[in-house]
Amino acid sequence: MSATPKATPDRQKALATRAIHGGETRPRAGHAITTPIFQTATFVFRDTAELVAHMNHEVSREEYGRYGNPTQRIAEDKCAALEGAEAGLAFSSGMAAITTALFTILRQGQHVLLTDDCYRRTRQFCTSVLGRFGIESSVVPIDDYAAIEAAIRPETRVLISESPTNPYLRVVDLERIADIARRHGLVSIIDSTFATPINQQPLKYGIDLVLHSATKYLSGHNDVLGGVILGSEDMIDSIRACQGVLGGILDAHAAYLLIRGLKTLPVRVEHQNRSAQRIAEMLAGHPRVARVYYCGLPDHPGHAIAARQMSGFGGVVSFEVSGDLAETSRVVDGVRIFQIAPSLGGVESLIEQPALMSFFELSSEERLAIGIKDNLVRLSVGLEDTDDLIADLRAALD
Ligand SMILES: Cc1ncc(COP(=O)(O)O)c(C=O)c1O
Repeated sequence: MSATPKATPDRQKALATRAIHGGETRPRAGHAITTPIFQTATFVFRDTAELVAHMNHEVSREEYGRYGNPTQRIAEDKCAALEGAEAGLAFSSGMAAITTALFTILRQGQHVLLTDDCYRRTRQFCTSVLGRFGIESSVVPIDDYAAIEAAIRPETRVLISESPTNPYLRVVDLERIADIARRHGLVSIIDSTFATPINQQPLKYGIDLVLHSATKYLSGHNDVLGGVILGSEDMIDSIRACQGVLGGILDAHAAYLLIRGLKTLPVRVEHQNRSAQRIAEMLAGHPRVARVYYCGLPDHPGHAIAARQMSGFGGVVSFEVSGDLAETSRVVDGVRIFQIAPSLGGVESLIEQPALMSFFELSSEERLAIGIKDNLVRLSVGLEDTDDLIADLRAALD
């Protein structure tokens, strides 16, 4: 139970205002303008009467760090204010969020449906870990709604999808996913990490749970690992109870950094949307680029749906170099501002060749079978000057 009075969730205010003030309580401890870091592992009871009142849910307060911390609660409430959710729950990573949610919802003998292009560790968790506990999973094509429906079994309980996806920025029709889930009594989960609540709010379309790797845009500075899951108070309460057992909580210092990152999320994402669009357009016209994947480009297969359900197309752009693995590596090695690293969504622009980063352990044939080409490059566009980034890429390609 929360120790802090819940902030007034003013959903009428614009996203920029919610990013600064959403979830924050007033007045704050010590008259500070920022939310303090409650660096404590446990919380003190005045006397036995207060302890008993807490156990009987008669008072609102913290008990032990694994069950919650005031800084973490504010981060959760701010995420909920941005996403338009009743409640939110913060974790030590995006993977802690997805695994805890699935452990909460699923029982032995049940079945999970995932769309292809889902984050590969999510797929790995479902196939390798849940499989050992008697929970089966099937992977279905993201844009084949008939195949999704055909794969539903009587024991199917969860439908997980992602939009836009990594690395091809494929887009799922959120309304159709929510409709399929509702008609078949499934819990729908969307990993909205690439979109952020600034560009897309899946709950508005009837999705049950929205997940973010807060490591990416929400924190935004490549200095925190975190995850959040958002949805109805009932669902979040049950996942919170499971988190208290599994232990993947966001620590107070990381929660403070997440709160700080969230305050600038709208301005960062708007800049990244604009910058990525210009970079995608430049790449589309470059003779050494064979193909560009960005859902903001009109010829992207997901553009029409993205334009309908997103207010911006995000900061990730993928493209194929005209050339083989080695020639593509030369382009990656040729940039000076973009840095070679996994992850995305931070202020620093990053570049990677998925064949040599996330999919290194697979052979070229195995990579091709799942659609990862040797000449594919993924960019995470940061906050540097757009003209400088374009000049950097042009120089490497030329
Ligand atoms: C789309 C997506 N979802 C989930 C995750 C997992 O998040 P984390 O690395 O914070 O555990 C990632 C990480 O790259 C991701 O890209």
